[in-house]
Amino acid sequence: MDLFLKGKVAIVTGSGLGIGRVSVLTLAAEGANVVVNDINQSVAEKTAEEARALGVKALAIKAGVDNQDEVNDLYKKVIEEFGRVDILINNAGRGVHWEAGKTPRPFYETEKEDWDYTVNLCLYGVFNCTRAVLPGMIKNQYGKIVNMISDAGRTGEAFMAAYSAAKGGIVAFQKALAREVGKFNINVNAVSAGATDTERILASREKLKNKMGDEDFKKRMEAMLKVYPIRRLGEPIDLARMCVFLSSDVSRHITGQTISVSGGFSMV
Ligand SMILES: NC(=O)c1ccc[n+]([C@@H]2O[C@H](COP(=O)([O-])OP(=O)(O)OC[C@H]3O[C@@H](n4cnc5c(N)ncnc54)[C@H](O)[C@@H]3O)[C@@H](O)[C@H]2O)c1
Repeated sequence: MDLFLKGKVAIVTGSGLGIGRVSVLTLAAEGANVVVNDINQSVAEKTAEEARALGVKALAIKAGVDNQDEVNDLYKKVIEEFGRVDILINNAGRGVHWEAGKTPRPFYETEKEDWDYTVNLCLYGVFNCTRAVLPGMIKNQYGKIVNMISDAGRTGEAFMAAYSAAKGGIVAFQKALAREVGKFNINVNAVSAGATDTERILASREKLKNKMGDEDFKKRMEAMLKVYPIRRLGEPIDLARMCVFLSSDVSRHITGQTISVSGGFSMV
């Protein structure tokens, strides 16, 4: 099926690694020109190189989505290079500030700074990027915005209250936005992930395995998989394909929707 993505211009945030990286490469394989954004310039450059090898133009731009000035600078660079943005995938997001040594904790042990990190990255990140691209999309009477959320934002996840709240906030935000901008031929939808085997998750699982030992680790994985009717965890490509579908005109009559790609973990 032709997804009509050839020559389109797509920004994917947090796409040096993980689900974002595979979304970039899936878009590039469909002929879209891509902007790889990340706070880590070297992984962004590497992903952009991989995209170029698929025959499209690719820019790697360092910016934190939680920083409005950096996002506005990113947008300026994209316009200088491509003249417009057709697709924005608001992918950057994390539940816990791993780099600061944080781990999931009960709500009553969280501090405002934990909430600031999560809300700034997940919710203000979506605000900053969407706010930057939307006037141009309205002018062009064309746009696709895809928000990467988590099933935590749909059903709630224990020990991840701030993350659940921030991702749930995106769902409410996009419903309001979809109602405002549908008349400009702009679709706004979300892909909702369950646990997905990205480089980061695989590395932390390997650490856990070494800590727990093979037998206990195996039991833990079996228990985890019981809540996934399909009995496996997601792979980045599972999410990327849905992002690309919602970035294309094949899904032109879908807006304001959240679609879980999580092996049936949540059914709402
Ligand atoms: N992996 C999962 O199991 C899972 C589950 C549910 C939802 N999600 C959601 O999917 C999306 C992608 O998750 P992932 O696990 O692939 O990501 P990840 O944690 O692997 O990070 C991907 C990239 O984002 C970059 N990044 C971090 N902070 C950034 C910022 N402020 N601005 C720009 N880039 C930044 C990182 O440097 C990294 O290269 C996120 O929104 C996440 O909440 C992931």
